This record gives sequence, structure tokens and C-alpha cells, in this order.
Amino acid sequence: MSQPPRSFIIAVDGPAAAGKGTLARRLAQTLNLAYLDTGKIYRAIAARLLAAGKAPDDIKAALEAAIGIEAVALDDPALGGEPVAAAASKVAVIPAVRKAVLEFQREFALSPPPGPGGKVAGAVLDGRDIGTVVCPDAGAKLFVTASLEARAHRRHKELIDKGVESIYARVLQDMTERDARDSGRSVAPLRAAPDALVIDTTGLDPDAVLAVAMAHIDARRAAGDC
Ligand code: C5P
Repeated sequence: MSQPPRSFIIAVDGPAAAGKGTLARRLAQTLNLAYLDTGKIYRAIAARLLAAGKAPDDIKAALEAAIGIEAVALDDPALGGEPVAAAASKVAVIPAVRKAVLEFQREFALSPPPGPGGKVAGAVLDGRDIGTVVCPDAGAKLFVTASLEARAHRRHKELIDKGVESIYARVLQDMTERDARDSGRSVAPLRAAPDALVIDTTGLDPDAVLAVAMAHIDARRAAGDC
């Protein structure tokens, strides 16, 4: 009996403002794959907690907030912004919260929902632990990074462009703290998988990043690895 085709999974990990979201979205579009920004899951849990007046490190409240989170609109613009991001990185430290949202992410990767153009061949997931924990068997793994200063400058400019008041030194400090929490936690820390291609986007524009990623994916496919 013939097996159904395996979902083609691309894992894109990296720190904040390294350009992984832009790359993941463009890969999904180019290759007709579904896209999941897994940071939005942690942001949605954090936003629920903040709205309820709870602290993001309140384990019991965080676990309650994690239940049914996949049904929440993850494209809500209220999930953007640094206060929610900082709270998300505190929520993301809690092992029970990570466990509660793991299955949803794996299910999305293995049985991706159809896109606006119909059926898709697989999924692109971006986050911090996709290649290491969520989808260790992903067909292609990319770790997108950039210098701390370049990332802070990008985030600062993004905020200014959106008309949000921003102080560069503050953005730099928030990002330093968030990097430390994401890399230093005991469960699923921010790390490149050993078999990930590391792309340093410090001096690259989005087209160049896409070209590097596509060359890697094409080579993996030509070798029959995915
Ligand atoms: O990617 P984004 O900046 O939206 O993520 C917000 C926070 O969610 C991160 O700083 C990180 O703490 C957490 N996160 C995570 N694992 C993921 C995605 C995001 O721990 N796969």
C-alpha cells in the first residue's frame, strides 16, 4: 500500500530580530508550505496572563493560560511589542508550559493546514527550539542570527517606522536580557541544532538570506535528505 507523502518540514530558529520571521514567511510562500510563527504561541499565553493581571512567572496561571491557546487568533496585532515579548520569554522558561504547547506545534508540522491556494506540501516553523526539540527530524534546519547591535538597530527602526516611541539603549538592554533568558533556560534553550545551517544576516538583505537558505534546501533535496 502506498504511504501518504511525508510533510516537508523546514525549521527556522534564532534570536529576536535576526530576520527569521521574514525568511520563514518567504520560504513558505516560495515553496507553498504552511507557516507557523511559534513565538506567537508564547506571546499569546503571556498576553492572557498580563490581561488577567498575573505575573508571567506564575506557573499555575501560565499553565492555565496555555490550555486551548492554539484556538486563539495568533495574528492578533496585540501580540506584537516588547512588553509582551519580554513576558513571553518568562513564560517560555516554564517546562510545563513548553510541554503543553509541544503537541500542537508537532501536529501543525506533520499535518499542516491548507493555505489560501489549497493543499500544501509541508510546513515552515520558526522559533527557538524547532530544529532541536519540536521537529528534530525536519528536512532542513536553518539557524538565523546577527550581531546583537544589528538586531537591536533593526528592532528600534521597526518600532520607529510603526510610530512607536523607542529608545535604542532600552531596546538593546531588553534584547540582551531576552537573549540571556532564551539561551540560559534549562529546557529547550535557544541553540543551533548540530545539523543546522547557520546564516549570519548582519550584512545581508532579505533577498540574499533567502538565496542562501534556498541553496541549502535545494542541496538537501538533491541529496535525497528531504
Ligand atoms: O519569536 P518571538 O520573539 O515572537 O518569541 C517571543 C519569545 O517566545 C521568545 O523570546 C522566547 O522566549 C519564546 N519562544 C520560545 N520558543 C519558541 C518560540 C518563542 O521559547 N519556539
